[in-house]
Formats: sequence, C-alpha cells, structure tokens
Amino acid sequence: MAVNALAYQTFDDISDSECEQRILSAKAALGERVVILGHHYQRDEVFRHADFSGDSLKLSRQAANSEADYIVFCGVHFMAEVADILSRPEQVSILPDLSAGCAMADMANLANVERAWQEIAKVLDPDSHVTPITYINSAADLKAFCGRHGGLVCTSTNAGQVMEWAFKQREKVLFFPDQHLGRNTAFSKLGISLSEMVVWDFSQPNGGLSKEQIKKAKVILWKGFCSVHQMFKPEHIDRFRAMYPEGKVISHPEASFEVCQKSDYVGSTEYIIKTVRESAPGTRWQVGTELNLVNRLHEQCEHEGKVVEFMAPTVCMCSTMFRIDPQHLVWTLENLVEGNVVNRIKVDKTEAELAKLALERMFEVSI
Ligand code: 13P
Ligand code: SF4
Repeated sequence: MAVNALAYQTFDDISDSECEQRILSAKAALGERVVILGHHYQRDEVFRHADFSGDSLKLSRQAANSEADYIVFCGVHFMAEVADILSRPEQVSILPDLSAGCAMADMANLANVERAWQEIAKVLDPDSHVTPITYINSAADLKAFCGRHGGLVCTSTNAGQVMEWAFKQREKVLFFPDQHLGRNTAFSKLGISLSEMVVWDFSQPNGGLSKEQIKKAKVILWKGFCSVHQMFKPEHIDRFRAMYPEGKVISHPEASFEVCQKSDYVGSTEYIIKTVRESAPGTRWQVGTELNLVNRLHEQCEHEGKVVEFMAPTVCMCSTMFRIDPQHLVWTLENLVEGNVVNRIKVDKTEAELAKLALERMFEVSI
C-alpha cells in the first residue's frame, strides 16, 4: 500500500447509494486507465459497475487482452492472480478485498499436491504416466506445478477438451481440487466409468488408496468440493419435476454427480446464462448454481414470462464472492484516483511463468 493511501476504515460506513455515486465518479476520473471485471456471482451493487462480466474462462481472456493500467477484479483471489499472470508486467491486478478467497481452491495446496505426486511415484513414475490438471479455482503455485509437470489448467467451460488433451499425453489424470468437476467431466464428456476413478483423500497417507487402486485408476480425483454447490441435492430436482413436469433443470458441474446426472443441462456460469436466455418465452427453469446469478437471471428473463428458480430451498451464496462490496470497490477506485494502489495481487515471477505455461496449454486446447 502506498504511504498516503486512504485507509479502509473510513469507507466502511458509507451507504450503498453514496458508494454508487462515488464509484461512478472515480471510474469517470480514471477513464481507460481502469477496467473492472465482474464474475457472475457478484452482488448487483458491484456487478453493475463491471466493464466486462463473465465466467472464469471469459474473464481470464478479458484480463489477457486488457489495455488498462489497472485491472480491478470483482471476483475471488485466484481470478485476480490469473489476471496478473496473463497481463503485461506493468499492468496492476487488484482484488478490492483480500479476504475474498475460494474455499474450494484452498482445499488443495502445493505441499499436499507435491506429497501426492511423491506417493504416486512409489507405484509408478507420475511424470511419465499422469497428467496433472488443476481447475482454475486454485492458487498460482498449483498452476505452476501443472506447468512444471506437463499438465495444464481447466475451467468449467473447457474441462472436457482439457481432459481429452491430457489423456493424449499420458494414460492417467490427477485432477484437483474439485472432485465433482473431475468426475462429471470424465464420465459425461469422456465416457470414463466411475469404477475407473478413485478419490485421493489428502488427509491420509497415499490418499487412502492401495497400490492396486492407484495402478488401476484412470482418473485420480482430489477430495475437494465447493460448499455452495454441495447444497444442491437430487431430491430438490425430483420435487421440481413433480411440480413442473415441463420445467428444465440446469446445473453447474461443481454440483454432485447425482445432481448433474438428473439435470437436463450442465455447464459453466456463462453457459447457464446463455442457455436460459436463449430458451423459449414462458419456460420454467431450476438452476443449480450461486444465488446472485440465479436471482439476476430471473429478473432479466421475467419480462418474457420465464421463471428462473434456485435449486436449494435454503439461501446459499458464495460468501467469499460476497466480500467484494461497494465500500471496498469505492475505496479501491478512489485510492487509484489519488495515485495509490491498494490490494495489488502480484504472483512471483518464476511461479507466474510456469503458471502461464499451464494456462496457455489450456487456451490452445479450448476452442
Ligand atoms: P465459472 O467458471 O463457471 O464461472 O465458475 C467459477 C466458480 O467459481 C463456480 O463456483
Ligand atoms: Fe469457490 Fe464455490 Fe465460491 Fe465458486 S462458489 S468461488 S468454487 S467457494
């Protein structure tokens, strides 16, 4: 933080409506020097200020193509890291609240993944037999690990293409941190049976697996998950279908295997929005992803007589995405107007180079 940076404390009590005006003024003052990227899970008061919105893949492309001096990422930590990795060295990536992490991303760390690699090496040489794939929801050092070991990154949009590429290199895949995206992709996009997949429990020696199980497995799934998408259950879909037999169900692939199998469509946040928006007027949808996105989609489609409802009966938002509030956004922008950079996200140079390699492999295989 620059020496004279405006302290956050004085911004905490500013009302949302005052923030609205001040964000608009600060953006106008900064002009093209700033670009605000907003993930679909952001709350409306923040989301409406985004110059570009999208899923992780779309936003990472946007970050790579941006000409702005400052990339303010209204999303979570790993997204701002990706923006830093893909942008030019003189560009600055900023996360308005540093506590906006991703609980699922935190379920895999470099020490645990390196230990898993060494434990697999007791059975077979992983560098010749296993392609590591990390979901973009992961720290930069795990992306770098994949870059170093012939692996790559995937998003919920391109996980199928990434996995196909991975199997062309080596006969096994180690997929982290989200077991659900890995399982749903391997089964539905590549036709790999559940019996050919094992779950690596990082809290146990050798992932809790026997040598035989490791040898036999085609896909080794890290035991990570998203607590938001875990809330969706097959019985929620059954109830919806009983009430609305004509209704359609669409889920994010971070939801469980059972939920995805029962859904009519499965895909990234961008895919969900596109599919519902392009559906016929008057259709009814049940959506298995984060609440802010679902509520916004309902509001956008209501005038066409569409009903878009949330899959779970309880409120489940991504609490870390929610940390980016208008107060933090105005604090960030007004500091930039004053010439102060706050909350810069900077990835170590060597780590960034390897992570970039893993991200570039992903871009090459995703159409
Ligand atoms: P998308 O890439 O589909 O936007 O997903 C990101 C995410 O964190 C979903 O929980
Ligand atoms: Fe991470 Fe889940 Fe939030 Fe997505 S919804 S950012 S996976 S915690």
